[in-house]
Amino acid sequence: MEKQLNIGVLISGSGSNLQSILDACSAGKLKARVACVVSNRNDAYGLERARKAGIPALHLDHRAYSGREAYDEALVATLREFEVELVVLAGFMRIITGVLLEAFPMAVMNIHPALLPAFPGLHAQRQALEYGAKVAGCTVHFVDCGTDTGPIIMQSAVPVLEGDTDETLSARIQKEEHRIYPEAIRLYSEGLLAVDGRKVTIGA
Ligand code: GRF
Repeated sequence: MEKQLNIGVLISGSGSNLQSILDACSAGKLKARVACVVSNRNDAYGLERARKAGIPALHLDHRAYSGREAYDEALVATLREFEVELVVLAGFMRIITGVLLEAFPMAVMNIHPALLPAFPGLHAQRQALEYGAKVAGCTVHFVDCGTDTGPIIMQSAVPVLEGDTDETLSARIQKEEHRIYPEAIRLYSEGLLAVDGRKVTIGA
């Protein structure tokens, strides 16, 4: 059988992006499989999605650890146990440390609901609305030690419409998230992403 990339997905909530990745895997669109899903919250619906797909779903409670680095050491141990090669952050509401990044160099991805470098951090959709932006969107990027600052892999733009609320804009953005995150993972899994400083090029 063809070699499949082992992905570990980290979540804290609904896991709709996780679902889009699971769906892409089961549709045979990715040379990858989700080896495990880890949540820092026990009530994350994404854990349920993983279980339904027959994938190990683990709760690793950050409150049980003395600090961010100790927590990340536990994450790394778990990800190693499942032979994870690419770590995918999908709504993981934790700041990660060098411990995770050094264990998976240029192999941690995140999706952010804004066109970075605009509106990093929390509540990006609300930030865009309050700023009066006419265009919003989402960004898949490699994670570095800053907040939403790593090299950009893919972006997709959506319009901000008159009368948009946080909910309507978020829903429009999420549709694009569910399209570009599996696509970025596909490119990675096929060895088509090259990183040179801040620039990521997509090979043929
Ligand atoms: C998404 O909006 C993503 O951009 C952000 O967190 C949210 C996760 O949503 N990082 P879900 O849990 O995948 O539904």
